[in-house]
Amino acid sequence: MIMQEIEDMEQNFWDELYEIEPEHFGTGESEFAIKCSEVMKECKVNRVLDIGCGYGRDSIFFGTQGFNVFALDYSHKALSILNRRISASPLKKNVVPIQYDICKGMPFDDGYFDAVYSFLLFPVGFSETEIEYIFSEIYRVLQHNGLFLACVRTGKEVSSFFDEKYIRSKLKMFHINTLNARNISVGRYHFNVIEIFSRRTA
Ligand SMILES: C[S@@+](CC[C@H](N)C(=O)[O-])C[C@H]1O[C@@H](n2cnc3c(N)ncnc32)[C@H](O)[C@@H]1O
Repeated sequence: MIMQEIEDMEQNFWDELYEIEPEHFGTGESEFAIKCSEVMKECKVNRVLDIGCGYGRDSIFFGTQGFNVFALDYSHKALSILNRRISASPLKKNVVPIQYDICKGMPFDDGYFDAVYSFLLFPVGFSETEIEYIFSEIYRVLQHNGLFLACVRTGKEVSSFFDEKYIRSKLKMFHINTLNARNISVGRYHFNVIEIFSRRTA
């Protein structure tokens, strides 16, 4: 099977999942988003990119906190749910849904964002090469000292390579403030995760 077919299958998987269960990961924002919102306020963040935003639980929360949010996901279904949720609300002004596959790069200028945020996007479904490329794109679209805040799954059930050592080795161009290993609950799931609080080095 060629790569494009595999990627289409993965995208279809998410579309079908959100079709069957539009609030698969619950309704409210994640605890991680609440922590990150505080960090972003301290760092005077204005523009934040939420990659793998799903139906925008955390993007909407960031919007209510006054950030200008670009909510990116490749699932058409997820973004149609997000669009519906914000269409009749003032959040339409500061939450911008973007349908895009991040394996194809990021459709933004260099240094466009004060922060890039991601909750449970990594590493499921990505190869090491894709992860390296996405990290390099995150670096590119962040301004100097911009924040990279991500909660990533870890452990044998998702991947054999994505652990603390690997994250440190791949984020050499970032200053890592904290890596927190935790077990969290999301909807009906329990995941082992690592929370990454880092910033792009100048
Ligand atoms: C585990 S879900 C997390 C969704 C959201 N952050 C939340 O917590 O509700 C991962 C999301 O990443 C998206 N995704 C996976 N691969 C992607 C890619 N290559 N480009 C853009 N989005 C992708 C999926 O469509 C899905 O919505």
